[in-house]
Amino acid sequence: MQTGKPTVKAHSRRFVLKSLAGASVALAAFPFALRAGETAPAGRPLIVFFSRTGHTRTLAAMIRKRVGGDMVELKTAKPYPQDYEAAVKQAKKEQQAGARPALATELPPLEGYGTVFLGYPNWWGTMPMALFTLLEKYDFSGKTVVPFCTHGGSRLGRSVDDIRKLCPKARMLQGFAAFGDSVEQAGKGVDAWLRGIGMAQAR
Ligand SMILES: Cc1cc2nc3c(=O)[nH]c(=O)nc-3n(C[C@H](O)[C@H](O)[C@H](O)COP(=O)(O)O)c2cc1C
Repeated sequence: MQTGKPTVKAHSRRFVLKSLAGASVALAAFPFALRAGETAPAGRPLIVFFSRTGHTRTLAAMIRKRVGGDMVELKTAKPYPQDYEAAVKQAKKEQQAGARPALATELPPLEGYGTVFLGYPNWWGTMPMALFTLLEKYDFSGKTVVPFCTHGGSRLGRSVDDIRKLCPKARMLQGFAAFGDSVEQAGKGVDAWLRGIGMAQAR
C-alpha cells in the first residue's frame, strides 16, 4: 500500500483477490530470466533481513535453504510495538520524518560475500526505515544486491528504487515479493525466481 493507512482488513481483502489467481500469476508477473551475456554472480551469499512478525523471516529461510550462505536477522535497538496499529503509526511517523532507527545488529565483514539478499516487509510502500539505516551504514558497492519482501498487497512498492538510490554502485538483480499471509506457499515461486536470476545453484 502506498497511500492511506494500511489496515489488516484492507491487506486481507487484497490478499483474497490476488490469491484467487494463484501462483501462476505470481510467476507470470516476474520475467526471471538473466539478460544475454549475464552470468550468475560469484561469491558466498549473505541473506540480511528484517521481520517484525516472522513472514519475512520465513521467506529468508526458504531462500537460505536453496542458495546456502549466511543469514543475519536485523534488529533495531528499540523493538517495534507488538500491537499492529501502534507499529503502523510508529512506522508512518518514522517515514514522514526520514528517521534512521539505530540498529542492534552488526553485519559481518562484507568482503567475503558476492551477493547480498536483502529482505524486509513492505511498510508504507517501501522498506522499513531501519533498512535505510543499514544501507547508509554499510558499503554495498560492487556487491550484487537481491531484494525480497513480504507484503499485504503492494509487493515491492518503491523499495527497489530506494535501494538503487542508497547503493548506486551495487548491481541489482530482479527482486521477489510474496504475500505475508501465505508466504509458506511461496516455494515454487522462489524456485522459479532463483532459477531466473541464476542463483539456484549458488551453494
Ligand atoms: C507498519 C506496517 C506498514 C505496512 N504497510 C504496508 C504497505 O504499505 N503495503 C503492504 O502491502 N503491506 C503493508 N504492511 C503489511 C506487511 O508488509 C506484511 O504483513 C508483511 O508480511 C509483514 O512482514 P513481517 O512478518 O516479516 O514483519 C504493513 C505492515 C506494517 C506493520
